[in-house]
Amino acid sequence: MSNRIAVVGTGYVGLTTGACLAHLGHRVVCVDVDEVKIAQICDGIMPISEDRLPELVAEGRGAGRLSFTSDVVEGVTGAEFVLLCVPTPQAPDGSADLGYIESAARSIGPHLRADAVVINKSTVPVGSTRVVADALGRDDVQVVSNPEFLREGHAVSDFLNPERVVVGADSEEIGLRVAALHLRLTAPLLVTDPASAELIKYASNSFLALKLSYVNAVAAVAEAVDADIDDVVKGLGLDGRIGAKFLQPGPGWGGSCLPKDTSALVRIAEDAGYDFALLKQAVEVNTDQFRRVVDKATEVIGGPVAGRRIAVWGLTFKAHTDDLRDSPAVEIARRLVDAGAHVVAYDPEVDKDTPIAAGIEVVDDPYACCEGAAALVVLTEWPQFGRLDLDRVADALEAPRIVDTRNVVDRSALERRGFIYRGIGRT
Ligand code: UDX
Repeated sequence: MSNRIAVVGTGYVGLTTGACLAHLGHRVVCVDVDEVKIAQICDGIMPISEDRLPELVAEGRGAGRLSFTSDVVEGVTGAEFVLLCVPTPQAPDGSADLGYIESAARSIGPHLRADAVVINKSTVPVGSTRVVADALGRDDVQVVSNPEFLREGHAVSDFLNPERVVVGADSEEIGLRVAALHLRLTAPLLVTDPASAELIKYASNSFLALKLSYVNAVAAVAEAVDADIDDVVKGLGLDGRIGAKFLQPGPGWGGSCLPKDTSALVRIAEDAGYDFALLKQAVEVNTDQFRRVVDKATEVIGGPVAGRRIAVWGLTFKAHTDDLRDSPAVEIARRLVDAGAHVVAYDPEVDKDTPIAAGIEVVDDPYACCEGAAALVVLTEWPQFGRLDLDRVADALEAPRIVDTRNVVDRSALERRGFIYRGIGRT
């Protein structure tokens, strides 16, 4: 059955969700106050780089099931379901800033049809379903929580092949109606109360952060006891209770969700009277990982980075995205600059004119990036970094020295060419 759905906010979550719901057969209107963005999407220019998204948007528009507007009233009028997909940035105290979601709810409230269901997909602190309901100011409209678990770079396939669909509603009947929007998906469905649904989202992202901090800490131990992290990770992951995913050590975790959601959960727990020391520690391990990478650069050079040129490969927070938000790579580059280095960076998705931070120069060629640098530090796991010509890299560098925080470049090939090498979790 097709439903008339309005999606408010055309960021990562909103645009992907709108395009995918249209693909599932619903009639969807995507709304955003940003007129330029809406005009660009209508011209086929996607605001984010996401696999299959342009095709799904074109398919939905071609079939007359997907439309876009910057007129909020036009977008939500008559909609049976309204999905809120607006950002919840981190407030200075670590909590989630509900400003956007409250103002979106206030602006749509008077225009909703009676019996409409407002579905909150934004990641909001436990209890925010109530905040949204208050801002809507409508007794005849239900508010439910339906958290998303989309990874950047895989958002469309994650939406269409989810591992679970979670709906938090006060009434089971409404929960099932919302769940039915995903009927063509075969994923397990969990209908629960709003607070549990909201907590599932924070607990999931925080668990991923814990897992990564754990593996980065194990990598530090592996370095100290002469063990090989690749084999350790293989052995760990073969235990079905642990699982092989999210076990790659690296320069620390980042991106638009994990740091924000872990801080928010620490804050939510604190407000509820629980000291989530375990999660705080995971955040500290992550911050310490940035320091450890800078130390490794000092080690390969054999002295301080101050006054030296350092080549950096990778600025995005992970591969297959152009997103620089809360990127560990940018944080580490900044720390190198703070330590007095001149950083020259290359990233296949970052244009050379992109302003990153003072002291960080961006170039558009990986070999030019290394020219005259005291060392190369690899910070994002772009697969092409493992295929570049190591002779050219060695020739360009002042001396062949590398810190590979993603273990993406072939270590034995590097050592054959005389590189001084530091990885993560390898002696
Ligand atoms: C994350 C969650 O995975 C997703 O479910 C949620 O809805 C949004 O937040 P995303 O922000 O796209 O998705 O990034 P993710 O793929 O989870 O990676 C987060 C960070 O962990 C990155 O910095 C990445 O490089 C790092 N990472 C991930 C590792 O260091 N090792 C791994 O094995 C996996």
